[in-house]
Amino acid sequence: MLSKKVEAALNAQIEIEASSSQAYLAMASWAETNGLSGTSAFLYRHSDEERVHMLKLIKFVNDRGGRAHVPALKQPQKDYKSITDIFQSLLEHETGVTASINNVVDLCLKEKDYTTHNFMQWYVSEQIEEETLARTLIDKLELIGSDKAGLYLFDRDLQNLTGTSGGAHDGNA
Ligand code: FEO
Repeated sequence: MLSKKVEAALNAQIEIEASSSQAYLAMASWAETNGLSGTSAFLYRHSDEERVHMLKLIKFVNDRGGRAHVPALKQPQKDYKSITDIFQSLLEHETGVTASINNVVDLCLKEKDYTTHNFMQWYVSEQIEEETLARTLIDKLELIGSDKAGLYLFDRDLQNLTGTSGGAHDGNA
């Protein structure tokens, strides 16, 4: 059984994952209408993965005797200056998500909720992968600079790249 505090923290995390899915959906739409079809495909998949992260939490809260709430969401940022701006925003967003997940993990320890602590470890690992990938992509974009051929290849490479090794492909999701 979840304590009220852990239940509230997990519900807050549900909202964050849902907001992440919305944010990446908006980025995908921007990329799609700015000639970046590979980047757009990557971001649509990433948005789907975030929805899976949200669903995993909803199922967990309900299975543990709590009540998951489906949140209302704010409209995400619509416009971006460049592809680099997108990935910098994505990294900034994920850094915030990591901080929030760490707070949930911390609360689990304080509340001696080792089951939820164990469940949250999947999210801890996922965050490491997501942040690493975002940093790698930003580094590549910095190397490419204003080289149009480089940007073309970067976008093409993203066509089949998944956000993480887990995410939407995780069997437990
Ligand atoms: Fe579900 Fe990207 O954090």
